[in-house]
Amino acid sequence: MKKMVYWMLGLSVFSFSALGLDYLYYTNSCRFSPGNLNTALHSEIVARAEEQNIDKNVFAQEYHVLGEGRQCFAFVSADDAYVIKFFKKQRINKKRWAKHGNIFRKIHEKRHNTASRWKKLLLETAECYQLARQDLSDETGVIYTHFNKTEHFIKPLLIKDGKKTHLVDLNNTSFIVQRKVELTRDRISKLLNEGKKDLAVDALIQMRDLMLSRTSKGITDPRQSYGKNFGFIKQSAVQLDVGKISKDPSLALNPKAEMEKLTANLKRWVKKNYPDLYAEFLLKISDSSS
Ligand SMILES: Nc1ncnc2c1ncn2[C@@H]1O[C@H](COP(=O)(O)OP(=O)(O)O)[C@@H](O)[C@H]1O
Ligand SMILES: [Mg+2]
Repeated sequence: MKKMVYWMLGLSVFSFSALGLDYLYYTNSCRFSPGNLNTALHSEIVARAEEQNIDKNVFAQEYHVLGEGRQCFAFVSADDAYVIKFFKKQRINKKRWAKHGNIFRKIHEKRHNTASRWKKLLLETAECYQLARQDLSDETGVIYTHFNKTEHFIKPLLIKDGKKTHLVDLNNTSFIVQRKVELTRDRISKLLNEGKKDLAVDALIQMRDLMLSRTSKGITDPRQSYGKNFGFIKQSAVQLDVGKISKDPSLALNPKAEMEKLTANLKRWVKKNYPDLYAEFLLKISDSSS
């Protein structure tokens, strides 16, 4: 009888989720702990990806919590020059109904295929970050990627998270190193607070130049999020979140349509977020493209 009730309950929730109404049960936010990180892979990623030179000082310093996105936890080095990103492990909350017996657990796993879905995502992310390091290092600040297990890190990485200290075994963890950037929103607000409107507009033009450079290398991204996924290193705009980039060599040969789309998108974003800068931005962008 008890089993019967669970069955009926399971079926009704199953059909509820089949209608696509199950997103409420999902979360990508979790507290950081080394146990929540994706481990390094065995052989899925081509080994040449690990043959990289990097200043040993990057891993000798301690790191502090910086930010979190859907896919990763980001930490900044004590000297404020580097960011290490670790990739989240599967963070899909199991639904309550899936805990009532093997059959429901299996239905849940079959429907969501959670472990393999997240592994696939990690492999796709690895591709993107490796592409960024190889073809777009200046435009993204990505200087090192580590997705295969290694044995060359002698000491674990020390992370300070408030009063807690975590030790992360780098040899067995997937991560990337990127230069620290100043987020677009922070850079523009700082310039505006200092009364440097001209430089704020120049910074926005730099964003367009970054799009030009990315496109000339045949790389694209389906979404931009200029405010939080882009920033600046010195005077150059940089794309910090490359989790969805892909290569399409035909773009490099024929960049016009892509650049028109990206420029229109950037204009809309500037108009919405910095209406006071919009007129000057339009003027400068048309001057610099003619
Ligand atoms: N190189 C960086 N410099 C400064 N902040 C960063 C850097 N990388 C990540 N962050 C911060 O961490 C957040 C999450 O990183 P992001 O790469 O966007 O992860 P996700 O792919 O999960 O969205 C960013 O929105 C930003 O606030
Ligand atoms: Mg992001």
